[in-house]
Amino acid sequence: MQRVESEIARLIKEIDYDEVTRLFEMLSGGKRLRAKLILKIAPSHEKAPLLAAIVELIHGASLLHDDVIDEALLRRGVPSVNATEGSKTAVMLGDILYSKAFTELVEFDKDIAKAVASSVTALSKGEMQDVKMAENFNSDEQTYLDMLYLKTATLIEAAAVASALLSGKDALNYGIYGRNLGLSFQIIDDILDITSDEATLGKPAMNDFVEGKCTLPYIYLYEALDEKDKKRLVDAHAKKIDKEESAWIKSKMQEHKSIEKSFNLAKVLSDEASKAVEGDTELIQILQSMIQRSY
Ligand code: FPP
Ligand code: MG
Repeated sequence: MQRVESEIARLIKEIDYDEVTRLFEMLSGGKRLRAKLILKIAPSHEKAPLLAAIVELIHGASLLHDDVIDEALLRRGVPSVNATEGSKTAVMLGDILYSKAFTELVEFDKDIAKAVASSVTALSKGEMQDVKMAENFNSDEQTYLDMLYLKTATLIEAAAVASALLSGKDALNYGIYGRNLGLSFQIIDDILDITSDEATLGKPAMNDFVEGKCTLPYIYLYEALDEKDKKRLVDAHAKKIDKEESAWIKSKMQEHKSIEKSFNLAKVLSDEASKAVEGDTELIQILQSMIQRSY
C-alpha cells in the first residue's frame, strides 16, 4: 500500500498546482478498499500500484462530487471540501483528480482502460438514479439493488476485472467477486448508517433516510409494517428526524428483523463472491473483514 500512496503523491505532484496539493492533503484517504483489491489480484505486476492509484483518484473525485450533490458536511470524520472551501472548489478538485486519473489510464491496454472508463459512466448513472429515487419513498428492493450495483459495485467490479486482466487471471470470475463484494459492502454501509453512531462513522448517523435514501433495512421494514405504520414511516422520509422518530424506526426494525434480513442478503452476496475465487484466501479475508467492519 506504501507504493500506492507514493503513486498517488506522484500524480498529485505532476498536476503541478500548489492549491491542488493543499486541498488534496485535506482529504482523508479512507479505507482504500479498491486499491487493496487490485494489489491482492495483481500482487507482482509492476503497474498494479499505478492502476490502484488511478482507481482511488476516480473514487476520491466521485466522493467530492457526491458530497456537493448530497450537501454533506462531513466525510471520513473530517469536514468535506464543500463544507470548508465551497462547492465550486470541490467540483473543480474532483474534475482535476478525475481527468488526471484518465490521462494515466489511457496508457494501459485498451481492455483495461475500457473496463475502468465504462464503470465511471455506470457509477455516474447510479448516482443520478440515487438522487431521483430520493425524491419519493422507494419500497422496491430490485430497483434499489440495481441502483446500488451502478453506484457502488461497478467501480469495485472494474478494479477486480482490470487487475485480473493486468495479471492474466480469469477476468470473469474476478468480476463476479468484485460485483458481489461491492454490493455486499454497500449493504453493510446501509446497515451501519442505522446501527452505528457519528463518532464511529465519521458522518451523521441515520443520515441516509434524512437524505431521502430508502436503503434496504427501510425497504424491508416498509414491507413488514401495517398500513398505519407504513404511513408513519413514509411521513418521516426525507426530513430532519427527531429522537422519538428515530427510536421508533429502530424499535420497529428490531421487531421485524429488518437489519438481520439486510445482513443476511449481504452474507449471501459475500458467499457468492467467495465462491467465484475459491481457494484465494487473501480475497476471502477481504470479504470477511468487510462483513465484520464497524465503520
Ligand atoms: C456515494 O454514495 C457516492 C458514490 C459511490 C458515487 C458518486 C458518483 C458520482 C458523483 C459521479 C461522478 C463521478 C466522477 C468520477 C467525477 P452515498 O452518498 O450513498 O455514500 P456516502 O454516505 O459515503 O456519501
Ligand atoms: Mg453521499
